[in-house]
Amino acid sequence: MTDDTGVGTIRKVGVIGAGQMGNGIAHVCAAAGFEVKLNDISRERIESGLATINGNLARQVASGRITEETRQKALSLITVAPTLADLGDADLVIESAVENEEVKRKILRELCPLLKPEAILATNTSSISITRLAAATDRPERFIGIHFMNPVPVMELVELVRGIATEDSTFETARAFVERLGKTIAVSEDFPAFMVNRILLPMINEAIYTLYEGVGSVEAIDTAMRLGARHPMGPLELADFIGLDTCLSIMQVLYEGLADSKYRPCPLLVKYVEAGWLGRKTQRGFYDYR
Ligand code: CAA
Repeated sequence: MTDDTGVGTIRKVGVIGAGQMGNGIAHVCAAAGFEVKLNDISRERIESGLATINGNLARQVASGRITEETRQKALSLITVAPTLADLGDADLVIESAVENEEVKRKILRELCPLLKPEAILATNTSSISITRLAAATDRPERFIGIHFMNPVPVMELVELVRGIATEDSTFETARAFVERLGKTIAVSEDFPAFMVNRILLPMINEAIYTLYEGVGSVEAIDTAMRLGARHPMGPLELADFIGLDTCLSIMQVLYEGLADSKYRPCPLLVKYVEAGWLGRKTQRGFYDYR
């Protein structure tokens, strides 16, 4: 793909993680015409991610948002990458594994020697310091945060976050790439949880405190915010949608990174995560999906 939009160097995109964020990222990249290599820790997870992409593309065809031809083309552009070595010829790799700094660092350390020297490395972290993750790589100047929102094919925003060492050329290539995906960019400084989650997660945490303190039921709290503040989803339904483990990780990053008690994760959130009630993905969270 050579053109004058600044994205000319990017043709092949590697995506690490085929879960709800990773498969959404692979989906939008392929729909925009990029070759995509999808990686995860097992072939089953990759296959499951591909099945989700297939279903979501079909949904977009059904509602007339894309054509059947675009769906077929997008699917043909995605290939399975069972090992990190399979991402070796990618021009851009987007890490979208679980929101756990140690896991991300380990992946980045293993990945770097396998990449082309000029490849750009991005992370979809929703809260962790880009500068700190960059330090685990061999290319902090070509490392950047590209933070998508869930569900990726629907949400219009992407946060772009540079680390202290990110070069201007990396930033401009990433900006052109995200624009090619049809998303709108909000540039954030590298502070804990950036902008969207710094604002959204304390609201969700407060909703959990509201439940914990018995102010209202799950349904009442969600109805209050859906109809009273016109949010598309109530905060507890949204927490289940994001994943309670991810919500807790983000609150912990805010609490530790900003050292302010207003970010203390609600004990009820901690308890649910300890119980393995992680929301929709485990079929149980504030709601029961079984
Ligand atoms: N892929 C493709 N299309 C999808 C989709 C997906 N995964 N999910 C929904 N859609 C489409 C539907 O097909 C439908 O399309 P049409 O309008 O063309 O018919 C449209 O989106 C609306 O979907 P539904 O009618 O099924 O349901 P809805 O109207 O209730 O909307 C929703 C669903 C878009 C998820 C909406 O409830 C919403 O916007 N919720 C809030 C989501 C949100 O806040 N996301 C941010 C989370 S925070 C985050 O992501 C940051 C982080 O790091 C944690």
